[in-house]
Amino acid sequence: MMRQLIIAGNWKMHKTVAEALSFVQELQSSGLDSRVEVVVCPAFTALAPVAEALKGSAIRLAAQNMHWEAQGAFTGEISPLMLKELGCKYVILGHSERRQYDGETDEKVNRKVKAALEHSLIPIICVGETLEQREAGKTAVTVETQTRAALSGLTTEQVAGLVFAYEPVWAIGTGKTASDQDAQQVNGLIREIIAGAYGAEAADAVRIQYGGSVKPANTRGLMSQPDIDGALVGGASLKVEDFAGIISEAQ
Ligand code: G3H
Repeated sequence: MMRQLIIAGNWKMHKTVAEALSFVQELQSSGLDSRVEVVVCPAFTALAPVAEALKGSAIRLAAQNMHWEAQGAFTGEISPLMLKELGCKYVILGHSERRQYDGETDEKVNRKVKAALEHSLIPIICVGETLEQREAGKTAVTVETQTRAALSGLTTEQVAGLVFAYEPVWAIGTGKTASDQDAQQVNGLIREIIAGAYGAEAADAVRIQYGGSVKPANTRGLMSQPDIDGALVGGASLKVEDFAGIISEAQ
């Protein structure tokens, strides 16, 4: 199956509304190619204005996190219902920064994945090992545990529509990208796990990004790997020139 590449810019806790709007205006006028699906993931405060600015555009909107309940007494949280109302197509779930700083467990990620799907949001599920786990030879077991937990209780049809992002924690924001081969190996493992549990058709349909210090110069090599279907980009998604460079190198 030909999977459409998906390049998503995770702005994390960057960009005011004014900065976000100026970014998307500039990105839209940079002549993007429709072969790649382009997604921006602003902070919650910029989601509504960016959604408005993207009306009629092929650029899609994602949130960086959400609660699993549709509403309730959860101070400071945002629900899937609210994200859907704003026009989000995707939501990043289980990012390692949330796992590390906000107590995001595998169980919470799974609840969020189910809630996102119930509200017709597509989860971008992040998995990946720390440096300590890699050095201890625990990359595969870590990624397998996170992947299986995220998928628990889903139907084959739901699994087929998901996006995964393999993000080795040691590569995030460090400038140390995984080699093309290392990234391919883990992305291939995620696809194998899905094939084993849900069948070859679902595994073939799932898109699996790589994330961790992606920049224009390393995009082509990563994207040419058979099981890498896009990138989840942090730092290099903050400047239009870099992000547009990654999109153009990915094709
Ligand atoms: O969500 C994006 C990742 O955490 C990658 O961040 O490109 O700054 O390494 P980075």
